Amino acid sequence: MKSFKLNNGIEIPAIGFGTWQIPDGQEAYQAVKEALDAGYTHIDTAAIYGNEKSVGKAIKDSGLDRNSLFITTKLWNTERGYEKTIAAFEKSLADLQLDYLDLYLIHWPANETQFENWAQINADTWRAFEHLYQQGKIRAIGVSNFPKDYLAKLLESATVIPAVNQIEFHPGYLQEDTVALCQSNDILVQAWSPLGSGRILQNETLVTLAKEKNTSVGQICIKFALSQGILPLPKSTNPENIKRNLVIDYFDLTADDIKTIRELSELGFSGSDPKKVAF
Ligand code: A2P
Repeated sequence: MKSFKLNNGIEIPAIGFGTWQIPDGQEAYQAVKEALDAGYTHIDTAAIYGNEKSVGKAIKDSGLDRNSLFITTKLWNTERGYEKTIAAFEKSLADLQLDYLDLYLIHWPANETQFENWAQINADTWRAFEHLYQQGKIRAIGVSNFPKDYLAKLLESATVIPAVNQIEFHPGYLQEDTVALCQSNDILVQAWSPLGSGRILQNETLVTLAKEKNTSVGQICIKFALSQGILPLPKSTNPENIKRNLVIDYFDLTADDIKTIRELSELGFSGSDPKKVAF
């Protein structure tokens, strides 16, 4: 598995297995087990997905060396602020049955629609992340769903520059301004919904391109994210798709293909604008 290097020198496997919307219990356990068997070494979950216990059990039962794996989870919105963040982190770690995390992310920023003091809340939460990082409990810390100006605001008070910003990214939804700010600060962008959560798989341009390359739209989307220096987190509960999404070296995307994909008009947006969401 290829990797990206984070801004603190840590290596992160270049494709991660996403677990959003995979229900806790047998389904999440089985999906993560399939993913680990297929060769994924990077698993992405979150407290709000409710599946940390099943993810942790699948990791434990795999018998794989903990140090060969890269595990990410995220702080849920109700747990923001310094004290609550520390407690939420310990709970996630216990649920995952781990003694350290590879990457911990603020799941969504406190936003201006909900909070007058949104910037202060985000700064306080980040201070707790820095504390946990400096204690050696997490190998890297980052954020998720931080639009350009929210990230810029956080950077004003941050002592540790976030290693990652995980955002919605897929053909038809590129968030160019946010990606540019991240990349100019050596903050790795991770793509959630790299396949538009299935909403873009029937797009004619993408279907034609996939046919030309003898591959699937899903694999085109994964390769496209990587071509932009972005780490995709495809999610699947189908064993064939789980395997397929790691196999992308047998076709190329040319500069023209990438231009075609970049020029698609807005497509498959989830509707979740981080500045406006009410959760
Ligand atoms: P399934 O679980 O049946 O594989 P995203 O990662 O953007 O959220 O997209 C996830 C959705 O895309 C899921 O519905 C998943 O369905 C589907 N999916 C994942 N990989 C592929 C693939 N290679 N081809 C087609 N659909 C896929």
